[in-house]
Amino acid sequence: MKVAVSGKGGVGKTLIAGGLARGFAARGLKTIAIDADSSPNLAMTLGLSAEEARKILPITENKELVDSKTSTGYSGVYRLSFTVDDIVKQYSVATPLGVNLIVMGTVHSMGAGCMCAPNAVVRALLRHLVVDTNEAFVMDLEAGVEHIGRGTAQHVDALLIVADSNLKSLEIAKHIHDMATTAGMKQLYLVGNRVMNNTQKEAIQSFADKNGLELLAFVPFDQGVIDADMRGETPLLNKEITAVQTIDNICESLIKKNKVS
Ligand SMILES: Nc1ncnc2c1ncn2[C@@H]1O[C@H](COP(=O)(O)OP(=O)(O)OP(=O)(O)O)[C@@H](O)[C@H]1O
Ligand SMILES: [Mg+2]
Repeated sequence: MKVAVSGKGGVGKTLIAGGLARGFAARGLKTIAIDADSSPNLAMTLGLSAEEARKILPITENKELVDSKTSTGYSGVYRLSFTVDDIVKQYSVATPLGVNLIVMGTVHSMGAGCMCAPNAVVRALLRHLVVDTNEAFVMDLEAGVEHIGRGTAQHVDALLIVADSNLKSLEIAKHIHDMATTAGMKQLYLVGNRVMNNTQKEAIQSFADKNGLELLAFVPFDQGVIDADMRGETPLLNKEITAVQTIDNICESLIKKNKVS
């Protein structure tokens, strides 16, 4: 089960990506979460403290690792073929939610065009995780449309597109949906987040209907999420929070749709 989570900035991608990863791990699947945002913050949502999160060195910034994989000894020339399974073992961080986290760092254009060494390592690593392994995989993408349908993100089983009732976030969701469709991605689901009332639900539903987006779920607005984030705690450990329960239901329905046992 490989899922990527996309959407406009601030719509709740990280909360949902974290919740799905936790859900897969809680159901006994070995789970890797990838923070592919250049301003990474999935670590705290997975239960690490701010101090622990700060200590994580993103893959693209780990010069020693990148050099050890790609250096040929000649400047400007680097190796394209190298093993990456050891990176998962050595550089993923265990989190209190039972998910192993890899923080990617800034990746300039995940498509085939960019030839710099850190990108080559990230590309190979993502490819390995998406294509070669059976582990569950959840990727928290950078906000916006830049990475959609390019490089490895396009090989995931499902792309979740998060939006709230704000028309701007829905327009971006549509743009992401259209790009992903063009790239041949098959399971595309809109998730309406931070929903406060029926008017907002209807606005999201009618946008989805008009634009051919498949609506998977509504996640309610929950003050408990804001309060936990304010304290620097993960909301995901609090089962009383309805938004957290709803994200867990999304996890269940994705597993059913993809028949993962
Ligand atoms: N269902 C919800 N109820 C209440 N607050 C929420 C909900 N979902 C997210 N939030 C709040 O909205 C803010 C943004 O959430 P989050 O960081 O998950 O979004 P994001 O899309 O990952 O943002 P960014 O684009 O900056 O990475 C956070 O302050 C979070 O607490
Ligand atoms: Mg985020």
